[in-house]
Amino acid sequence: MSEEIIKIPTHVAIIMDGNGRWAKARGLTRLEGHKAGTENLRGIIRACVDFGIKYLTVYAFSTENWTRPSDEVNGLMLLLESVVENELAELHREGVQIRHIGRLEALPKGLGEKVKNAIEITKNNQRLILYIAWNYGGRDEIVYAVQKIIEAGIPANEVTEETITNHLFTQKCPDPDLIIRTSGECRTSNFLIWQGIYSEWVFTPVLWPDFNKKELRKALIEYGSRERRFGKV
Ligand code: FPP
Repeated sequence: MSEEIIKIPTHVAIIMDGNGRWAKARGLTRLEGHKAGTENLRGIIRACVDFGIKYLTVYAFSTENWTRPSDEVNGLMLLLESVVENELAELHREGVQIRHIGRLEALPKGLGEKVKNAIEITKNNQRLILYIAWNYGGRDEIVYAVQKIIEAGIPANEVTEETITNHLFTQKCPDPDLIIRTSGECRTSNFLIWQGIYSEWVFTPVLWPDFNKKELRKALIEYGSRERRFGKV
């Protein structure tokens, strides 16, 4: 396999897995693992800008993650809050546009508003579009799209694949070219199930807090070695 990056994907999506195991191996709490994961995300956002990636989607909190112990759930919510408060100025300066996919209404009081504020402030930035998947599930996203289509009064015989695409949280965002999952788990876990049908998947054993620019580079090289046929011969 070539050691050079021969193709840059437009849209990279990442399942940031392994914070808990990273923490356990160091005798730390799971929340400390998530903090390390958040720190790592900062470096990966910068690396994506350097590589010329246009869209980055990160799976940070799934619709299933509510079943985790309440101190972990609360700690994760505080981490999101600290990102949209303390990292906002820096992300804005770097030209990052923040978007959100998932349902904001179930978030603790005030947090949804802070996320909306970050989206509003950064809405004209074009260097990197960062989608934060928070309270996100692929099946829930399809339910959401169906609800919106019915609310809009679109007749059943006019519903096409494009209609559904346009009513998902991601709307007109290009489908992910490359989806990376860290930590050695080889599952899709309800992530971008509509958009990811022809994505290339790269599974790496590296735990998320250790997934640095060099590891991202390796994933991009692997992506470049794949022949994408989109169902054609
Ligand atoms: C999966 O690892 C990780 C999560 C459920 C949380 C991901 C969150 C972050 C990286 C930080 C927050 C990000 C933002 C945008 C504020 P795990 O806990 O399932 O790890 P394990 O499988 O080793 O237990």
